[in-house]
Amino acid sequence: MSKRVTVPEIMTAKGKRKLSELTAYDYPTALWADKSGVDMLLVGDSLAMVVLGQEDTLSVGMTEMLHHTLAVSRGATRALVIGDMPFMSYQASMEQALINAGRFMKEGRAGAIKLEGGARVVPQVRAMVEAGIPVQGHLGLTPQSAAQFGGFKVQGKTAEAARVLIEDAQALAEAGCFSIVLEAIPSTIAEMITEAVPVPTIGIGAGPRCDGQVLVIHDVLGLFDRFLPRFVKRYAKLDEVIVEALTRYREEVEQGIFPGPEHEFTIAEEEAKKLSEQ
Ligand code: KIV
Repeated sequence: MSKRVTVPEIMTAKGKRKLSELTAYDYPTALWADKSGVDMLLVGDSLAMVVLGQEDTLSVGMTEMLHHTLAVSRGATRALVIGDMPFMSYQASMEQALINAGRFMKEGRAGAIKLEGGARVVPQVRAMVEAGIPVQGHLGLTPQSAAQFGGFKVQGKTAEAARVLIEDAQALAEAGCFSIVLEAIPSTIAEMITEAVPVPTIGIGAGPRCDGQVLVIHDVLGLFDRFLPRFVKRYAKLDEVIVEALTRYREEVEQGIFPGPEHEFTIAEEEAKKLSEQ
């Protein structure tokens, strides 16, 4: 078993090597992603969309997130597991935010949590870090705020919006975030943020000059075909492989080809004989 990736290792990687992060939602996706050697596994609230078939990420709650985080923690022996705090699990009160973050570590066995937002979540980040909970920030197109943005839209496209993003990133780093996800922002702004903060930036639709990259595993594997954001690269089309295998199974069942003799259990001939004599 290889050594677990630690938060200090992620932080000191900045400027030395590129970091890799993937989402994982259950035991098998965690096993595959862990074997690939990625540094971090995010149990993203994208679970709501790519696993549970919801329209957005809002409906998923602590119960589902903890259930899936624990499954990922069982499958990942090397990567740092990060639990994604669902909508309204950290906004309503500091106490609730701290308790819920702690539940990811205690009940989900995560090594860190992620939450969305800039200056407005700084008090929560400070409290969590003080309590010993490593926090990954998330700026730009933060899906939990899609209603406020008027949809899933690229952020930071005006000088003013970009300035706010840079200040938010600095505030998150200063509050103690060990890394910051930058989602769907212009590459030049991501580069400016990367230079402006001492912690690694992890891009998704934020160009190549971030300190690392993250993608949703279902997109990478070609397992989710409802829509494909421009920033996604598909490395396989597993949906085709899966449907082909399942179709062959159905056909073989219908044609009586499966199960074959090699899949059957037998009873000794003398026992079968005794039975027919009874
Ligand atoms: O929930 C998620 O999958 C995420 C990543 C896209 C960063 O937040």
